[in-house]
Amino acid sequence: MKQTTNHESQITNHKVAIIGLGYVGLPLAHAFAEKYEVVGFDISQKRIEELNNAVDSTHELTSDQLKSVLPKFNSSLKTQNSKLTQPNFLHLTSHSEDIASANIFIVTVPTPIDKFKIPDLTPLIKASETVGKVLKPNDIVIYESTVYPGCTEEDCVPILEKASGLKYITTDTNHEPRITGHGTKNYASRITHHGFFVGYSPERINPGDKKHTVKDIKKVVSGSTPEITDFIDELYASIITAGTHKAASIKVAEAAKVIENTQRDINIAFVNELAMIFNKLGINTKDVLEAAGTKWNFLPFKPGLVGGHCIGVDPYYLAYKAQHIGHHPEMILAGRRINDNMGMYVANNVVKLMIQKGMKVKGANVLVLGITFKENCPDIRNSRVIDVVRELEDFGCNVDVTDPHADPDEVKSEYNINLVSHSELVSESDVPHRSRNKFGMTDHSTAQPLNDSTNTPPNQYTNTPITNYDSVVLAVAHDEFKQLNSTLSHSHSFSRNNMVIYDIKSIFEDSDGKL
Ligand SMILES: NC(=O)c1ccc[n+]([C@@H]2O[C@H](COP(=O)([O-])OP(=O)(O)OC[C@H]3O[C@@H](n4cnc5c(N)ncnc54)[C@H](O)[C@@H]3O)[C@@H](O)[C@H]2O)c1
Repeated sequence: MKQTTNHESQITNHKVAIIGLGYVGLPLAHAFAEKYEVVGFDISQKRIEELNNAVDSTHELTSDQLKSVLPKFNSSLKTQNSKLTQPNFLHLTSHSEDIASANIFIVTVPTPIDKFKIPDLTPLIKASETVGKVLKPNDIVIYESTVYPGCTEEDCVPILEKASGLKYITTDTNHEPRITGHGTKNYASRITHHGFFVGYSPERINPGDKKHTVKDIKKVVSGSTPEITDFIDELYASIITAGTHKAASIKVAEAAKVIENTQRDINIAFVNELAMIFNKLGINTKDVLEAAGTKWNFLPFKPGLVGGHCIGVDPYYLAYKAQHIGHHPEMILAGRRINDNMGMYVANNVVKLMIQKGMKVKGANVLVLGITFKENCPDIRNSRVIDVVRELEDFGCNVDVTDPHADPDEVKSEYNINLVSHSELVSESDVPHRSRNKFGMTDHSTAQPLNDSTNTPPNQYTNTPITNYDSVVLAVAHDEFKQLNSTLSHSHSFSRNNMVIYDIKSIFEDSDGKL
C-alpha cells in the first residue's frame, strides 16, 4: 500500500477539471471522480445530456460506472439544498464558467488533421482559451491530447498566457520567461502569485478494449518544473494502478506518445506491403505470418486498413514537425502512403475477382460489413473503410454498408451513407424455418440440412437478401460478423460463380480474396 505523502494530502485539496469528455476524457474523469472532486466540461450539450442520463455512446463506461459518480444517482452525495458535499463525484457541464473553481485542468480534446493532412489545432487552441480565461496563480494545466513535440509549450502556453494575463513558470532553460526552483520538492513552496504551471501526460487507452483500461496502463507524466513533475506524478499515481513514468521533459513526453503510434503505423504498413507482394506470388499472407511468428522476436502485426484518429493521424503530427525543422521524414510518410492506399487496393482486388468470375461490375450489388475504424467499437471517425466504398462506387457498383456498432445518424452525417440494418438484410418472412443470431443472420445451428444430391440448401435460404449481393466485403472484424462465417461459406459454396467474398481481416474460412 502506498504511503500518503505531502503531495497527496495537497492533491486531495485540489479540484480537477477535465476539458473534453470523449473516449479519453470520460474514463479519466471517472477514474479521478472515484477519488477527487471533478468537473467534466464538454462543448457538446448533447454529450453532457447523455452522460447526465448515465449513457455513454462511446461505450467506454457502463451506465453503472457513470451512476456511481454522478450526484443525481447518489443521494448521499447531496445536502438538503442539493449542494455537493463529498469530494468524490463528477459534475458534468457544458458551461465553461463552471470550471472556474478548479485548480488542475486536464485537456483531452481531439487533435485531428485537416484535408491537407496538416495538424488542426483548433480544438486545442479553443480549449486553451477556455482554460486561460479562468486560470489563477499556481494552477496547473495538463495536456493529454496527442501532439507533436513542442506543441504544448510553443502553441498552447502562449494562449494560456494571453487569456489569463499570467506567466508560465518553467525551469526549461529553452523557454522564456523562466522562474527557477529552489530545490524543494514542495509544490506549495513554489507559490509566486503571478504564474501557472503546465504538464503533459499522454493518454494510451485503446477504445473498445475492456482489458487495458485507463487505470491499467502505465502513465507517462511530465511537468514544467521538477516539483510540478513530482506533483503530477503523485496525482496520476493515486489513480493509475499500473504506475507512472516521469519523462525528462514535456517535449520528451510528447515525443514518446507520438512515436508509439507512428511505430505501429509503420509496422502495419510493412505487413500491408508484404500482403501485396504475397498476393501477387499467390501465397497466403496469414500462413506466412503464422510461420514467421514462431520466431520469438518476430512482431505480430497483421495487414489491414489503418483508420481512426490515432494511428492514421498521429504520424502526420510528427511529420509536420519534422518538416517544420527542415527534415523530410521518408519512412514515416512512406508508411502513411501505403496505409492510406489500402482501401483502394482492396476495392481494386474485389473488382478484379468479379471480372475473373465473369461478373458485370457496373451495377453490381456489393455489401460491405463494417464501417467503424476498428472492431467492436462505435467510432467511425477517419474510418478507411470509406475508401473501399468510394472506390467501388467509382467502378459503378451499388454499395450497401451494414454495421451493428455504428450509429446510423453519425454515419449519415459523416459519410452520407444510409446504413443497411440487419433486419433489412434478412427479413423474417424470407427464412421462416430458421432462428436468428445476434446480428440477425440465419443461425445454421438450427438450419435445415443441405440437399444431399445437389449440395444446395432449401430454396427459402437462397432467397435471403445477403445472397442477393454480388459481392460481400468483410471490412471490420466485429464479433457479430465472425458469427456470419457459416452463413457466408454456405452462400458462397452454392453461388461460387456469381458471388465474390473478400475478407480483409481473414476471419472467414471461405473467401475469394483476403489481404
Ligand atoms: N481515442 C483514442 O483511442 C485515443 C487514445 C489515446 C489518445 N488519444 C488522443 O486523445 C485526444 C482526445 O481523443 P478522443 O478520442 O477522446 O476524442 P473525442 O473526439 O472522443 O472526444 C473529444 C471531446 O472533446 C470535446 N471538445 C472538442 N473541443 C472542445 C473544447 N474546445 N472544449 C471542450 N470540449 C471540447 C468534444 O465535444 C468531444 O466530446 C486526442 O488528441 C487523441 O489523439 C485518443
